Amino acid sequence: MLSASPDVMEQKWVKKFRAWFVDYVAGFYGDDEYLNANVKLKEDHTQRTCEEIRYLAKELDLSGNQTRIAEVIALFHDIGRFEQFVRYRTYVDSRSVNHCLLGLEILRQTKVLDGVAYPERQLIEKAVEYHGSRELPKDLDGECLLFSKLIRDADKIDVLYVVTDYYRQYADNPQGFKLEIELPDGPEYSTEVVKELLRGQRIDYSELRTLNDMKLCQLGWVYDVNFTPTLKRIKQRRLLEMLVDFLPKNKDIERVKEKIFEYVDFRISQEKKEHNGNLSHMI
Ligand SMILES: [Fe+2]
Repeated sequence: MLSASPDVMEQKWVKKFRAWFVDYVAGFYGDDEYLNANVKLKEDHTQRTCEEIRYLAKELDLSGNQTRIAEVIALFHDIGRFEQFVRYRTYVDSRSVNHCLLGLEILRQTKVLDGVAYPERQLIEKAVEYHGSRELPKDLDGECLLFSKLIRDADKIDVLYVVTDYYRQYADNPQGFKLEIELPDGPEYSTEVVKELLRGQRIDYSELRTLNDMKLCQLGWVYDVNFTPTLKRIKQRRLLEMLVDFLPKNKDIERVKEKIFEYVDFRISQEKKEHNGNLSHMI
């Protein structure tokens, strides 16, 4: 679709990809209200993730070219979600398909990236492929590592926003709720999940039994955040406080809250060192 083969990501390409995305997603809307609500959720998530990644790129002093590549990654990171929902009517990968790999397949089938020079195209494809993995492959380095980390952070900021909004809508009107609730909603939560969070560990999705476990797991995402500006954004928006508000009020949850908040504040207090040290070797 795009004929030139630039060796850098030009702004006009980003514009064309944005238009392509809107057009692609438009094809998924129809008469099914449940499907429309779910497609809209991911379309809006994508647009906001693009904003978050631009914020991170700015905070981390990335170049203009790197910022544009990052935005294209954010634009395409969940491109597999739409096909996933149409085919399986769920966004739960374990019940359907790995949406990152499906996304990669769609990028290739549609040939949307065909005009992009190989190094940039590979950076985009790898970041899309790895954005939902539990761990990044150990052998990633350089810009491939940088962009893979960036999209994981930008995605987390917006998903935390989405889920807090989602829990609020569900609490306000459970019957009228048009989105998918993956786990049973009740007052229960797993004590093992609480223990792991108190030990500073992330929670694996396979351990989740209830909606409260999912909320606890989402609190634990902070342990997997790569860049301090991500934590600053999460803190500034009070996303963790909002999540805690949807959990039972008791000592366990209080302790988890204290641990998580302490961790976030500690990381923010270390920011200067990190900025001068960890990041500089990756760019
Ligand atoms: Fe995703």
